[in-house]
Amino acid sequence: MDAFIRALSKIELHLHIEGSLEPELMFELARRNRVAIPFASADEVRAAYEFSNLQTFLDIYYQGANVLIEEQDFFDLCWAYLLRCRQDNVLHTEIFFDPQTHTDRGIKFDTVINGLQRALERGRSELGISSSLIMCFLRHLDEESAFSTLQQALPHRDKIVAVGLDSAEAGNPPKKFQRVFEAALEAGFLSVAHAGEEGPASYIRDAISLLKVSRIDHGVRCVEDPDLVQQLIDTRMPLTVCPLSNIKLRVFDDMGQHNLVDLLRRGLCVTVNSDDPAYFGGYMTDNFLALAEAHAMTHSEIAQFSLNAIEASFTSSERKHQLVASVEEYLSQQSKSTCRR
Ligand code: HPA
Ligand code: ZN
Repeated sequence: MDAFIRALSKIELHLHIEGSLEPELMFELARRNRVAIPFASADEVRAAYEFSNLQTFLDIYYQGANVLIEEQDFFDLCWAYLLRCRQDNVLHTEIFFDPQTHTDRGIKFDTVINGLQRALERGRSELGISSSLIMCFLRHLDEESAFSTLQQALPHRDKIVAVGLDSAEAGNPPKKFQRVFEAALEAGFLSVAHAGEEGPASYIRDAISLLKVSRIDHGVRCVEDPDLVQQLIDTRMPLTVCPLSNIKLRVFDDMGQHNLVDLLRRGLCVTVNSDDPAYFGGYMTDNFLALAEAHAMTHSEIAQFSLNAIEASFTSSERKHQLVASVEEYLSQQSKSTCRR
């Protein structure tokens, strides 16, 4: 099963680029930019990654981002992630970035997006990895700051496919950003939102009805509302689920308790993603492996996560056809070799 997972074509739809900052690169950037960090070594940084909930993670995560200053830093960050994509056979990725984490420290919006964009272009030409950017608003900040961020994004409309909503969920409901999302949709962006990770199922309902999202990020607390689950099944509303993240942030006690495989079998358009891989103990392959270790699945069930992600992605229909063909050819090759055995 491990070999099957490693070689499977994967599509990532829930990845915070700032959450892919490995401790080694954090140290390198801290040195380059002369930023003080409260750790003596990369191992010490890793040892500090023990979280009891979303907020304890966010505190460390925003601190880590302080080492990102120059356009080259954002390039290096994104390029390192793309090299991991190649290793994990991730063929397409839709990447979140949090401009406010940087603009609030005096870093220019253009510095952030130009560094990321340059890495993504190189990823397309040198690695064959297709990609797009999703700009997230930090929901613990106010509506005015989100509006100002949207304004700064408008000249880069062609580089950003959608807007999203992340950071501290509880107490920051979708309604707080309804008007910003209306303006973003009006400007031609698609929308997604984190909902039902630490917040209640009603936030998932509100993200769909008020923010007009095309996907829900996380969404695992939908099971608290059976009518909502039925709605998600009927409408094929995708959920971008992050198994290792959910264990690290204690959304579930352990992987055996995770509801992702159950949701897949009930016909939801669920996908597997890594969220903040440098903080949560693994990239895409690690997430699939951890899930498969705790839940027996067939090859075609595992491949269904990739097919769901292709269906849920914002890429062109031409690219979707290529990706589906890659998954289906692999599955049929595998079933032939299984029959021969
Ligand atoms: N939830 C909310 N905000 C985030 C996350 C998450 O899992 N990761 C990075 N920002
Ligand atoms: Zn997330």
